[in-house]
Amino acid sequence: MDIPNTAQATSWNGPEGVHWADQKDHTAGGNAALHRLLFGAAAITETDRVLDIGCGAGETTIVAARLAARGHVVGVDLSRPMLERARADGVRSGLVNLRFEEGDAQVHPFPDDHFDVAVSQFGIMFFADPVAAFANIGRAVRPGGRLVFVCPQDIARCAWYTVPNAALLGHPPEPPADALAPGMFSLADRSRIERVLGEAGFRTVTTTAVDVPLYFGRDAANAADFYLGTGPVRAILERDATLTPAAARAILRATLEPYAGPEGVYLGGALWLVSAER
Ligand SMILES: C[S@@+](CC[C@H](N)C(=O)[O-])C[C@H]1O[C@@H](n2cnc3c(N)ncnc32)[C@H](O)[C@@H]1O
Repeated sequence: MDIPNTAQATSWNGPEGVHWADQKDHTAGGNAALHRLLFGAAAITETDRVLDIGCGAGETTIVAARLAARGHVVGVDLSRPMLERARADGVRSGLVNLRFEEGDAQVHPFPDDHFDVAVSQFGIMFFADPVAAFANIGRAVRPGGRLVFVCPQDIARCAWYTVPNAALLGHPPEPPADALAPGMFSLADRSRIERVLGEAGFRTVTTTAVDVPLYFGRDAANAADFYLGTGPVRAILERDATLTPAAARAILRATLEPYAGPEGVYLGGALWLVSAER
């Protein structure tokens, strides 16, 4: 298997991938508002063939498979632990029109002109060569087909990132040293999204600013446990020997308590909702 994004593969196959697979309740429906936006724009029909890029543990793949009830859905990801969870949740869902493939979407040998629509929920910001990756995805989408994804805007506008990390750091988290390097915020600049998709062969690119509360757990303790295993919090713990995991957990829990409601813990996120046509 060809995996040019080796650093991402290592990281999503390591403890963080295991953690995302284990900790998050992927089928609890906590991100229903986000799914309404993503799938509203994707306008999947009953017979569509759908690709879910960076599908992780399959949360959106399962939603897409329900919409494309007489079509089919392929979720692609390079994280084995997350795909294991996705396959298990797929079986539990009883849906038979979905499958998961392990691979790097930048080079994965998708069939040509096959999919009516490609979607992604936060799975397309991690490519070392985004133009090559979106061109490879575009090749798999039929002419006239659609690409629809959501990705985060600027770090400072994403409370789900700044609030817990600032609580542990004692100051707002720094933006990434290299804004273009693969990572959560690599497509925060809308002009970059438009340029990359244009160079990859997509047309009529629209980027719409949306602000959606994102789900992080059923209560503050559960959300604190989720954050504790994420890459940025792991990095803070590695750098600060005086901060024990137990102390970090207590800080996170207290910080997240005001965000907990009857439906769970939600923090705001300024996102780009992006649509383009092949
Ligand atoms: C932030 S997670 C989002 C997962 C899922 N879409 C969700 O919303 O829960 C990013 C996902 O992208 C995957 N990913 C990163 N780079 C990738 C690549 N080059 N090809 C395929 N998947 C990739 C990671 O393994 C991870 O599952």
